Amino acid sequence: MSFRPAPVLALALLASASTVQAGPRVDYMLHCQGCHLPDGSGTPGRVPALRGQVARFLQVEGGRAYLVRVPGSAFSALDDARLAAVLNWMVAEFGPSESARGFRGYTAAEVAPLRADALVDVDAERARLLKNLPD
Ligand code: HEC
Repeated sequence: MSFRPAPVLALALLASASTVQAGPRVDYMLHCQGCHLPDGSGTPGRVPALRGQVARFLQVEGGRAYLVRVPGSAFSALDDARLAAVLNWMVAEFGPSESARGFRGYTAAEVAPLRADALVDVDAERARLLKNLPD
């Protein structure tokens, strides 16, 4: 039997890296906040605010799907389970909480077919949803 330390060390490093930080908050930092900003405030005229807004889409038909089909979600490098988790985190973190009440979290199984059907005309769908939002 030969002693092979390298793979053992690599595994140990991987294990420690994934226990220290993994989770939707970190996925948001790495994959989303470059545009949406750490506090979800976005950039007026370029990137819409998520804070105080994102859960409002859940109130309108098609809005739940929209949050997954929007290109930033659909084409992210995250796998389905991690995308579901980051969206669930966003709804809870950015609210508004009255719109998020009763929210049933996304699952990988729900997210997979929706992101495969990514929006082509985001602006039109977004405008349609916003028009239908309750005040
Ligand atoms: C390159 C910039 C960019 C990145 C990175 C990005 N987004 Fe976005 N996001 C946008 C823009 C711009 C919009 C507005 C709709 C559009 O034009 O795509 C948006 C809209 C959204 C919306 C709908 C909110 C609304 O008001 O329309 C959600 C949900 C969302 N993004 C989630 C994410 C998630 C989750 C990630 C990370 C996995 C992410 N985004 C990464 C730019 C980005």
